[in-house]
Amino acid sequence: MAYGLLKGKTGIISGALNEKSIAWKVALRAKEEGAKIVLTNAPIAMRMGEINKLAEICEAPIIAADATSVEDIENLYIKSMESFGGKVDFVLHSIGMSPNIRKGKAYGDLNYDWFLKSVDISALSFHKFLQTAEKLDAINEWGSVVGLSYMAAQRTFPFYTDMAEAKAMLESIARSYGYRYGKLKKVRVNTVSQSPTETSAGSGIGGFDKFFDFADKIAPLGNASADSCADYVVTLFSDLTRMVTMQNLFHDGGFVNTGISEDVMALMEK
Ligand code: NAI
Repeated sequence: MAYGLLKGKTGIISGALNEKSIAWKVALRAKEEGAKIVLTNAPIAMRMGEINKLAEICEAPIIAADATSVEDIENLYIKSMESFGGKVDFVLHSIGMSPNIRKGKAYGDLNYDWFLKSVDISALSFHKFLQTAEKLDAINEWGSVVGLSYMAAQRTFPFYTDMAEAKAMLESIARSYGYRYGKLKKVRVNTVSQSPTETSAGSGIGGFDKFFDFADKIAPLGNASADSCADYVVTLFSDLTRMVTMQNLFHDGGFVNTGISEDVMALMEK
């Protein structure tokens, strides 16, 4: 059901790779709520072609940008503002990648060049999105920027390796830039810490299926789906959450505050 929450608003949505992507669902919901959007992804991801389908449904231009390149991000904002005929109201950062995870490296055997790449793609890029927006004055007052995080930023999940550090940095950037951008332009910056979700990035993590089921059995509401994540993100882009900033907001069905559940205790019974 649509409520017109984003009527008259414009936004940039990164990270829609395929129908399972969290960003894909956010794009559909943002469109449904009345926003005009621009889609972006790394040039290499765009070659896979699926984003064209989403662009058609959302009537959205696609502007390629490697999230590690300030030049690409500048071009993204400039072209987006041209397309909208004005500044942007919201930005979704839905970008993550760890070469160490992709290549199955354990935490005690990390390749440091890859570690730097993980941090650049998954965390520093958030700062690049924010700093470039500020320099170009690309975001309207009371605009909203959201990044997607995971609880490994606070609690240890052994197979999450260097992405845990990247997410901790991502959340810290939301606080630091949230302060700065709030003071300057009343732009709010938050991260949403999402349940394990079956996407390309999610399923790439070692033991994902077991870990997904475990989280689902711990959380009293079960794991939050990508669709429900999109619902939540849309509220953060809307005017209903104008005073929420510098937060890491858990969207996890209650997992983070649950010690143990009856479902998991039953599994332990011999
Ligand atoms: P996904 O694989 O669909 O999305 C990740 C996106 O990052 C892809 O579209 C990919 O092309 C993009 N990307 C990678 N390198 C890039 C670069 N250099 N420049 C621009 N884009 C680049 O997977 P998902 O799950 O939708 O991931 C979105 C975000 O949600 C990520 O930050 C991820 O860490 C986060 N997240 C995912 C969870 C999960 O279990 N799937 C749980 C909590 C957070």
